Amino acid sequence: MYKVVIASSNENKIKEFQEILKPFDIKVIPYQKLLKKDVEIEESGKTFSDNAKIKAEAICEMTGLSTFADDSGFCIKELDCFPGVFSARFAEEVGGYQSAFEEIRKRLNGKCSDAKFVSVIAFARKNEKTICFEGTCYGFTIFPPRGENGFGYDSIFVPNSFGRTFAEMTSEEKNLISHRAIATSKFLEFLEEWKNSLNKKRSEKSSVNKTTNEKEETVVVEEKILTETIDTQKSDDVFEIEVDEKFVSNIAPVSQLEDEKV
Ligand code: IMP
Repeated sequence: MYKVVIASSNENKIKEFQEILKPFDIKVIPYQKLLKKDVEIEESGKTFSDNAKIKAEAICEMTGLSTFADDSGFCIKELDCFPGVFSARFAEEVGGYQSAFEEIRKRLNGKCSDAKFVSVIAFARKNEKTICFEGTCYGFTIFPPRGENGFGYDSIFVPNSFGRTFAEMTSEEKNLISHRAIATSKFLEFLEEWKNSLNKKRSEKSSVNKTTNEKEETVVVEEKILTETIDTQKSDDVFEIEVDEKFVSNIAPVSQLEDEKV
């Protein structure tokens, strides 16, 4: 089991990511579990990528751990991609999603419009350039809203080639086709490569050490113990190997994370 931190306070989103990544042996840890508090991060970007980067980089900086964040939203073609990056704020400002649906229906004059959900995942790591992965799910709007599942704009969106809204699908069905699932599969591909490159770096480092003095041999032995521990745990915590020592001693020891039920 591998672990990565998620920079989000949205419980639905955290749950969706946990469900999507679980079959790939990746545990998603909400940052609040580590920092023991919520952090207010202003999403001041003009694009989904800008906002995802802002969140991931801020939490990566605070925790010292590899962190991902997604920024997502609902874009209605007839309304020039509104509400887009304002999806959450718009619903909040008009007093909730039912009012947002009513407002959108009025703005569309009762017409149906092409629409899409977009998700961008930003993955921030210490001393590395933040990398982004985008997923889009195309479909159209429908009124009145239909379905009880999901969240946000799910009940007024029908993905193309499906006769049901997102809110009429089970979370398993939605997770197969959603914007977040598409962005996540790109992210997963990257994580696989990254895991391989981390392992390669580690084994190169240990073979260089073998040829040096006694002090360095101790490091090799420690490294070997660490590697063996990781092997026995089916490579649990590969991402935490990169943890800043300061963080580990000040905030949450890795061993504690292993015990936590997330
Ligand atoms: P974020 O948390 O800043 O990414 O805000 C995204 C907002 O877009 C959410 O609060 C919802 O209003 C909307 N949204 C994003 N993804 C979905 C989805 O899968 N279903 C429904 N609404 C979504």
